[in-house]
Amino acid sequence: MQEKIRALRERTEAEIGKTDTGRALYELKMRFQAELKTVMSGMRELPKEERPAFGKLVNELKESIERQFEERAAVVRKKELEAKYAAERIDVTMPGRKFRPGALHPVTIVRNQLIDIFSGMGFKVYEGPEVETDYYNFTALNTPEDHPARDMQDTFYLAEKLLLRTQTSAGQIRVMEKEKPPIKILSPGRVFRSDDDATHSPMFHQMEGLVVDRGITLCDLQGMLAEFARRMFDSSTKVRLRPSYFPFTEPSVEVDLSCAECGGKGCRLCKGTGWIEVLGAGMVNRRVLENCGIDPDEYTGFAFGMGIERIAMLKYGINNIRALFENDVRFLEQFR
Ligand code: DAH
Repeated sequence: MQEKIRALRERTEAEIGKTDTGRALYELKMRFQAELKTVMSGMRELPKEERPAFGKLVNELKESIERQFEERAAVVRKKELEAKYAAERIDVTMPGRKFRPGALHPVTIVRNQLIDIFSGMGFKVYEGPEVETDYYNFTALNTPEDHPARDMQDTFYLAEKLLLRTQTSAGQIRVMEKEKPPIKILSPGRVFRSDDDATHSPMFHQMEGLVVDRGITLCDLQGMLAEFARRMFDSSTKVRLRPSYFPFTEPSVEVDLSCAECGGKGCRLCKGTGWIEVLGAGMVNRRVLENCGIDPDEYTGFAFGMGIERIAMLKYGINNIRALFENDVRFLEQFR
């Protein structure tokens, strides 16, 4: 019996010394306790007078081993913590990770600026659908089928009478059908045309404006445009109206701004003319008002539409529209 106890003690002590993880130590402890139990069960076979001495031995073993377990556990825990700290060590002198803060896209910047300028003049924003019917995009805008003006825009058709809107002007009809004058809306959004070169993209953005009320004249349009030009570019910017043609306006005008690059003297940007074309506009055609149930003898209105990319290109001196769609961060981060 004494031999058994001594063997268990020696073996356990040796193993404790070799164990170096908390988990292994725990398992060893469980094993020791099981073995000790087996040894103790042998007590029954001993003569009565030998039992007290045996019990004393077992208790001593138990206490001694338990103490050793505790001591070892403290050592192991310390080692484990040190290893953990070493693995998680951070060098606070190392340069930090670089974050590239995002920036608004130049088209978004200009769009927001336009909304800001025009909402300051009392315009409300209305956003129409990008998928339109032939009626809203053309017919109601006084461009019936077979009308030659349909060729001005290369349209993406989705179905017989369904298309991707080619102009935000379609929104004018939706607004005038629902609301009666006074109307003063601004309609920004994406438009689509089968067109692709240095200054045209199959998808681009327009900003449409519409004002309908009693007594609206071309002078109101001109005055508003002058204010817009001053605020969008600079206070010396001049506005020029040239006669033009759009089916939904009569008269129609093309609007030029004095070239910001050369101040109107003539340069490469304005092709020596001193003027840059920025938008189309005009007095809303009577037929369009009639199509929306507004009496053209009582009400008049003006409308205008501009390409947001075009304004952004002029404002920032960008010469290829593709730069606005490629999402090259080296280009985009210049607008931070
Ligand atoms: N919708 C025209 C275009 O895409 C631009 C335009 C011209 C809009 C005259 C208007 C306007 O509202 O009155 O070319």
